[in-house]
Amino acid sequence: MGKKSKVLKDEVFLQHPYLILLTLTMGFIIMDPFDLSPVGGHDFRPVKNDIASYQEVMENWHGDNLSRLGLGVPEFVDQVYGPESLEFDVVGQGPYAGLADGRVVRWMGENNGGWETFATVTRNWSEKLCARGVDSTTSKQWKHEPRCGRPLGLRFDKESGELYIADSYYGLMVVGPEGGLATPLATHVEGKPILFANDLDIHKNGSIFFTDTSKRYNRVMAVSGKLREMFDCRNHFFIMLEGESTGRLLRYDPPTRTAHVILEGLAFPNGVQISKDQSFLLYTETTNCRVMKYWLEGPRSGTTELVADLPGFPDNVRLNEKGQFWVAIDCCRTRAQEVLVHNPWLRNIYFRLPFPMRYLAKMMGTKMYSVISLFDEKGEIVDVLEDKKGVAMKLVSEVRETKGKLWIGTVAHNQIATLPYP
Ligand SMILES: *[C@@H]1O[C@H](CO)[C@@H](O)[C@H](O)[C@H]1NC(C)=O
Ligand SMILES: *[C@@H]1O[C@H](CO)[C@@H](O)[C@H](O)[C@H]1NC(C)=O
Ligand SMILES: *[C@@H]1O[C@H](CO)[C@@H](O)[C@H](O)[C@H]1NC(C)=O
Repeated sequence: MGKKSKVLKDEVFLQHPYLILLTLTMGFIIMDPFDLSPVGGHDFRPVKNDIASYQEVMENWHGDNLSRLGLGVPEFVDQVYGPESLEFDVVGQGPYAGLADGRVVRWMGENNGGWETFATVTRNWSEKLCARGVDSTTSKQWKHEPRCGRPLGLRFDKESGELYIADSYYGLMVVGPEGGLATPLATHVEGKPILFANDLDIHKNGSIFFTDTSKRYNRVMAVSGKLREMFDCRNHFFIMLEGESTGRLLRYDPPTRTAHVILEGLAFPNGVQISKDQSFLLYTETTNCRVMKYWLEGPRSGTTELVADLPGFPDNVRLNEKGQFWVAIDCCRTRAQEVLVHNPWLRNIYFRLPFPMRYLAKMMGTKMYSVISLFDEKGEIVDVLEDKKGVAMKLVSEVRETKGKLWIGTVAHNQIATLPYP
């Protein structure tokens, strides 16, 4: 009798091998004993985000059915590595670009040496340690990035000709018009280190507004093991996956040489741009897919308001000569992603599945393509250009408009795209 029932039980399991598999898989997912999931070995704490409904955003969004950004021309292919921010100096020379190998480089012209190193952000920068060429934008660089630096935001002071740099690891820095080794201005605020400086802008009174993306994370894994390198999981993804909101807007005042917290509790604050009349600034919150305004003057001084909800994840914001704002947007949000955003517990299970991040993202229906959008001073959309098939670039970081031309930077590709505009 006893023997028979054991046989029966075994048969049940044999006929339903997926039951065993399911039990094992569930156990595996929850325990994640080998730290195999993208969040493996990591204190992953997803929180709920305050993000506009996908449907509402899409109903009010102007698409670009001609996919005009797809006509962008890739230039300097494999000569610049992940040029996130692009800048021109006081005499219009450039572009200057902040690269994934830690350098700020400048374009001297075809017959004048091409790209030359203009500045580095640390004394420790060396060709041996940091220069990985086209591999600088791959996981091969991650381990070295904190030593080599990652200049993400660049701005020239139009009066002094000095270049201000927001470096992910070394904070707010400045280098003279001749370049060289940059000097740190703000590495700490309120006695604590700035972990993830991202972008900056210079007020006409000399104060510098800059973003610190997170109080908990820097840009890449502090410890990057072999396993983790196999999976596409850098800290800046965690900030978005968790939805954590510990980012800040900071201000550095040269007269007192101190940095101050202006806004905190932001969800991946990224680009920052002061308005032409200096009365407000715009900043992007990447995780919340939106552009925000912070008033610097007038009756609403010191307050914030929403400028626009976006169909994707914004990066830098740059002014054109008319005082309008170009926003670079990595597209796009999906319905599946919205469900995850609203349900932190679901994210906690989903991102513990033992698959590389790129598969998990694909399963969410995330297509990678780029959108750039022009807003006027009131926050109304003036123009939208999309590269729906990701022909010219799959990721955009910044748009600079000069003399009838758009220069488009990207943190992930080894090129700059240009496009005649308007
Ligand atoms: C594309 O957009 C333009 C202007 O927004 C509109 O006039 C045109 O009909 C649209 N074309 C298609 C094929 O939808
Ligand atoms: C530079 O390298 C030295 C020795 O390798 C190290 O001790 C130091 O912390 C590094 N400095 C920075 C700013 O990374
Ligand atoms: C510059 O102007 C900003 C905005 O009004 C202000 O917050 C800051 O304190 C000013 N900086 C200096 C050095 O006066």
